[in-house]
Amino acid sequence: MAKKLWGGRFKKKVNKEFFRFQKSISYDYKLANYDILHSRIHIVALKNAKILTPGDAKKMDTALKQILKGIRNKTFKPNLASEDIHTDVQNRVEKKCGKLALKLQTFRSRNDQIVFCEKGYCDDESGNIADLLGEVISSLEFLAVKYKGFHFVGYTHTQRAEKIAFMSYIAAFESMFTRDKERLLEFRKKLTLYIGSGAFKGSSLIKNYDRAIKEFLKKTFEKALSGKIKAVENPPDNVSDRDFIIEFLSILSIVQMHLSRLAEDFILFSTNEFNYMELPEDFCTGSSLMPHKKNPDFMELIRGYTGRIYGNLASILTTMKGLPLTYNRDMQLDKEPLFSSVEIIKDELAVLADFIKGIRLNRNAIVESLKDESLYATALAEYLVKKKIPFGTAHEIVGKLIRYSEDNKCKIRQMGNETLKRFSHCLNKKVVDQIFE
Ligand code: ARG
Repeated sequence: MAKKLWGGRFKKKVNKEFFRFQKSISYDYKLANYDILHSRIHIVALKNAKILTPGDAKKMDTALKQILKGIRNKTFKPNLASEDIHTDVQNRVEKKCGKLALKLQTFRSRNDQIVFCEKGYCDDESGNIADLLGEVISSLEFLAVKYKGFHFVGYTHTQRAEKIAFMSYIAAFESMFTRDKERLLEFRKKLTLYIGSGAFKGSSLIKNYDRAIKEFLKKTFEKALSGKIKAVENPPDNVSDRDFIIEFLSILSIVQMHLSRLAEDFILFSTNEFNYMELPEDFCTGSSLMPHKKNPDFMELIRGYTGRIYGNLASILTTMKGLPLTYNRDMQLDKEPLFSSVEIIKDELAVLADFIKGIRLNRNAIVESLKDESLYATALAEYLVKKKIPFGTAHEIVGKLIRYSEDNKCKIRQMGNETLKRFSHCLNKKVVDQIFE
């Protein structure tokens, strides 16, 4: 068991199994860099409040920068015996600076650190996911351009509806992911990392934070963070607030819903029954028993992961429900669902961009389906409307025509002028040929 940040008031040693149960280091180590950022700003505030000498502040900052270097070059290994990442970082500073490190926790609480760290994580990851969505949008654009001029079969109720341009079918997915990207960027824009809540009511240091943040950002050239980190305005709310995680996971749930709809379409359209598209072989797997199988596993896993992504949102919403103010340890359980959704979505999007570029359309099967005359019924009604026939009447005329065609097993394309004119004087073979093209 590594050194803890508490213990003075306890007579009994902590139960080992309980200690293991309550630890969060195995997952919150991912927040190490944000915890260091918090500490570095805190040190400046302590120096300005004359709690630390400039020399001591510098010594601790150097120690923190060394730990940060290890995180950046991926040599940092969390000490899994620590309770959490905040303790782990504190213990490392103590190793480098001795007893001086005990001043690092002055007027500071992990309640303030954890929400700061999580917001830092959400800030970076919302940006990363927005970039990945950008790549998926580009790959959809690539596919649309590759099949420019192609027609496709449009469905409502999974029943053939109308012929549409393949480009406009694909553009629907582009629009969904563009809205998702905008939602993420909007979320990111309004995210503010507050510092200085103490355990929940702030401390005498608060008045030093604005200056400390400015001084720190100027010294470290961390331009991207300017305006993003602020001295806390409402400490009890800040340590209680997990709205941003709920909001982020809601946005990711919408992204996942869009992904699963795309997956479902591509699974369906690549079946032998439809046969409209060929999924890239290098993203499919076979069957151990049936030699002929080429399965759309990637799409199925995307569809399947929707349960996990929605579940993660439901998990945090339920954890937060009815919690008394302010911080409660229940809130430690916010991280696994957050990390899980972010990692799944990032993995899906990273693979999806290349997958989409590898899709091939099966022109013959599409052309065969496009021969279905019902796909042109709406266009025919529209033509009649242009000829000044009220839409209700036009709808009725075309409906009767389709019915006649079905009852008499006679294609509309094959009907002569005489038959067509029985339904409307505006109909003739030339018109049918044009519309059913
Ligand atoms: N590990 C906690 C969390 O993730 C932060 C620590 C707060 N613990 C405490 N005893 N105040 O929420």
